[in-house]
Amino acid sequence: MIPLADLSLTDHELRAEIESGMRAVFDSGRFISGPNVAALEDEVAAYLGVKHAVSCASGTDALHLTLRALDIGPGDEVITSPFTFFATVEAILYVGATPVFADIDPHTFTLDPAAVEAAISSATRAVLPVHLYGQMADMDALHELAQHHHLKVIEDCAQAFGARRNGLIAGSGSDAACFSFFPSKNLGAFGDGGLIACASDAVAARLRELCNHGSTQRYVHRRVGYNSRLDELQAVVVRAKLKRVDAYNDARRRIARRYTQALEGLSGITPPQEHPAAYHVYNQYTLLTPDRATLQRALHDHRVATAVHYPLPLHKQPALVERYGRQQLPVAEAVAERCLSLPIYPELNDAGVEQVLAAIQAATEIA
Ligand SMILES: Cc1ncc(COP(=O)(O)O)c(C=O)c1O
Repeated sequence: MIPLADLSLTDHELRAEIESGMRAVFDSGRFISGPNVAALEDEVAAYLGVKHAVSCASGTDALHLTLRALDIGPGDEVITSPFTFFATVEAILYVGATPVFADIDPHTFTLDPAAVEAAISSATRAVLPVHLYGQMADMDALHELAQHHHLKVIEDCAQAFGARRNGLIAGSGSDAACFSFFPSKNLGAFGDGGLIACASDAVAARLRELCNHGSTQRYVHRRVGYNSRLDELQAVVVRAKLKRVDAYNDARRRIARRYTQALEGLSGITPPQEHPAAYHVYNQYTLLTPDRATLQRALHDHRVATAVHYPLPLHKQPALVERYGRQQLPVAEAVAERCLSLPIYPELNDAGVEQVLAAIQAATEIA
């Protein structure tokens, strides 16, 4: 079976580097805030070209802590995408703010700036775009809107480490940007982890305090915070992968190019569209097809794994319908009904890619 993603550690050089880094951590006896975490933060800040990078325990925490650090809470509205992983909206709810969904662009599946503009009210405090599947939202338009309406911009970069658009790298141009090191992300750990990038000294200081029980001085707690820290062993893994992340992203892009070239023109399949100014890093390669169940079944029979990211947009999630009632966002709903993700990971070789394509070809011929 060709899996959707292969997280086993097959790169021998990478494995050796991680094993030796982990042995050094075992020998040092420092497992929480140690030199690997500090070095990783510096290295990510340098990679993104941002002043501060603050690590934490997950991408979900990164979003939650950022909203708290920016003082967003009850009475505030945060405009976000209805077509993302649930964590994006959970973070808004954790701080007691109100999520407001704006529909997505039908080509990139990221927030549509015109829909965002229409959703702005006197209570709007922030816009939270999601760089879905590894493709950046239209940050030029969103930054312009935010500036005009005095809104904060928080990027959800969980799926987009290394993505770019119009010369801007994801996570570098906003009030804060939140990353996930969940194992299947483009820059993944061997467990949970996250990071916030930001430019402001005050926001970074606030985040460091919040991550560590509201404390910067041992056993003195200026506010109530959380236990949300990255550990040394995860930092060893992420540091080793960071050195290789551009090559990994290029490999994902090569696979995506081959898929798209072969799928274009196949009836009943719409390959993902990359914006001309985008460097899409393909955390997922997600096509649209009107009869998803049939294609998914046929691919499974040809030993190709697929997944649906995501079958239910957030405004239709039971937990939110219960609070806010029913809402209609036609583009997100149409995409959620038709989307199907194919296997993509840097180690997927040409033979594997051709096997996937042959399976799709056979499936669509039958249809
Ligand atoms: C778009 C998006 N936002 C947030 C998250 C949450 O990240 P984590 O799983 O590290 O908490 C994820 C990933 O799971 C994600 O895909």
